[in-house]
Amino acid sequence: MSLDLDKRQRAMLREMGVRLWQPLPAMPVSLATPALPVASGVEIAINKIAVDAKFERATARFDESSRPAAVPAAPGSLQSTGLSARPAGIDQMDWSALQSAVAGCRACRLCESRRNTVFGVGPALPAQAAVAPPVDWLIVGEAPGENEDLAGEPFVGQAGKLLDNMLQAMKLQRGEAGVAASPAGAAMSNRVFITNVLKCRPPANRNPEPAEMAQCEPYLKRQIELLQPKVILALGRFAAQSLLQASVPDVQKIPLGKLRGRVHRYLGVPVVVSYHPAYLLRSLPDKAKAWDDLCLAMDQIRS
Ligand code: URA
Repeated sequence: MSLDLDKRQRAMLREMGVRLWQPLPAMPVSLATPALPVASGVEIAINKIAVDAKFERATARFDESSRPAAVPAAPGSLQSTGLSARPAGIDQMDWSALQSAVAGCRACRLCESRRNTVFGVGPALPAQAAVAPPVDWLIVGEAPGENEDLAGEPFVGQAGKLLDNMLQAMKLQRGEAGVAASPAGAAMSNRVFITNVLKCRPPANRNPEPAEMAQCEPYLKRQIELLQPKVILALGRFAAQSLLQASVPDVQKIPLGKLRGRVHRYLGVPVVVSYHPAYLLRSLPDKAKAWDDLCLAMDQIRS
């Protein structure tokens, strides 16, 4: 895609953190070839290549020839629906077992339409690591959307760009540890893990259903037990409801705005509630309130 943007528009996009990229050449693109440098056109083109590559790798896992032969299911059994019970012992699993359990989960109908499960993204670990990465921040969103379902990574679409900008404003970044130092010069707590309440995409990006949230809840709980973050940032009402259901009576009846501005707890970890970035994209005035929430979360880390 190519856009005719004038100088002022380019400056504004740069200001909003939207990077500009050169359109891809018409020749076939080797996946081993790095992205070309900046000129014009939008980042989406590059994202699509990355997503297509990941999608190819992900779908390669479902090569029919490598699948075990199907066992016929008894009519009326759970298996006959194509679903199966969640694996037992999630609360004892190590990090690698938990990742495998999520990747193979068929406990609700979302498994039928998903392309990838979305476990979360954080500091790099060796493959099959049993121990979770040490993190300071855990950011919990709602559920993967289309881009996340394709990429197998949370918050890679427009809402994700805003989330990355919000992190950047705190001198944090997804994946690797940030580079920030506190004013006193001491290293700041800057390791971030990002995940969602649901690990599979709801079709057509509809809201998560209570039964789906209940099925996925043990995975998030175990992630939190293993990650032991210093603070949890719950983005949007579904994250807030999932994390506060045990501590805030009738939480599903309370408007999100009333859950903000104070520190809740989940398994002893401070929880700060804020607006979902997708909502903030539509409601600019609430960005200032979201910044207050980030400051409250930063205070938890500092204290
Ligand atoms: N919205 C979410 O809540 N999570 C994602 O991963 C993407 C969009």
